Amino acid sequence: MSDLEFVADLGVQWLRRPVPTTPGLAALLAQDALNAEEQAAVVQAVGASVADACATHGYHSMDLVVLHPATPGLEAALQRFDQPHTHADDEVRYILEGEGIFGFLDAQGEERVVCVRAGDYLRVPAGVEHRFTLTAVRRIKALRLFADTAGWAAHYTQRPVGPLAMKA
Ligand SMILES: [Fe+2]
Repeated sequence: MSDLEFVADLGVQWLRRPVPTTPGLAALLAQDALNAEEQAAVVQAVGASVADACATHGYHSMDLVVLHPATPGLEAALQRFDQPHTHADDEVRYILEGEGIFGFLDAQGEERVVCVRAGDYLRVPAGVEHRFTLTAVRRIKALRLFADTAGWAAHYTQRPVGPLAMKA
């Protein structure tokens, strides 16, 4: 079974949505850090392009996650993200810049590891076991969509796993 089939069987939606070419957006995405105003500008620039997903799945809010090598506490955060977990709400990530690695696990504990880049849109349904890390690039900007931010805590499954990385 291909990684794409494995991921689809889990109910994960993995689509290509080309990043909009809104004026000014590329320059903002090229920065490492973004202040609150700049983050809001990015959300404003790309929000309309995911209006269909918001309508279909009832996502009411969105924000931008920005990680880069100088993000305070980055390595500690990555050590949490790369532990297998689930959420009570969908995890939706629209990658606008940089790279990330998702691991998806089935009920038997088989894991498939995929790399995501700008233009990748993922909807991980509530309850699907997964984990995440960055690549060596240590940079990502992703739009997050939420139906209910309160329902979006991580529930760690305590499944024993090694470090998350792309297979050589
Ligand atoms: Fe997650």
